[in-house]
Amino acid sequence: MTRAVNNDRHLANIALIGFMGTGKTSVGRLVADLLRFDYLDTDEVIQSGTGRTIAEIFQNDGETAFRTLEGKVVQELTGRKRTVIATGGGLPVNPENLTSLKTHSLVVCLWSSPEKIWERVRHQSHRPLLLDKNPQTKISELLAAREPFYKQADVLLNTDLRSLREVAVQVVHQFRLEASGQ
Ligand code: S3P
Repeated sequence: MTRAVNNDRHLANIALIGFMGTGKTSVGRLVADLLRFDYLDTDEVIQSGTGRTIAEIFQNDGETAFRTLEGKVVQELTGRKRTVIATGGGLPVNPENLTSLKTHSLVVCLWSSPEKIWERVRHQSHRPLLLDKNPQTKISELLAAREPFYKQADVLLNTDLRSLREVAVQVVHQFRLEASGQ
């Protein structure tokens, strides 16, 4: 699904949004390779800037402090060009973040069903929000709460039945289409 991108926007970058485990990092790296763009991950920027892991930040300072750091990283991206930006799963919940990303990026949401997400994240342990006694319920609840934000993306791509490469090729295709229409 694609929404018409407003002509006033300058699409210098691609921002990937979506829930944890939808493939933003892997797809982002592939897209960057295909377009010869730089690749940047907002979680990595936070980790290298603070010298701490996301889990440590959540544990010691709490989620609100993490969201503040996330917002600062988004504001620092405004001068970027030719970059694929992979974002943390909760980043678009703050409307200011999405508004800011849209000023310079085509915003693409990678969408997956809760079942598929669980399949992908069940053997991973680095995500503080999934350290819950019932992570499957947590995924369904969080995904439902975030759906309205994810659906504000310019492009929504269902990744359930596509390989990472197929998703990456689709992202490149949509970007070329939108960028050439400017
Ligand atoms: C989060 C997703 C994580 C990371 C943090 C919070 C979320 O990023 O930013 O653990 O709120 O969904 P990924 O989506 O890259 O796992």
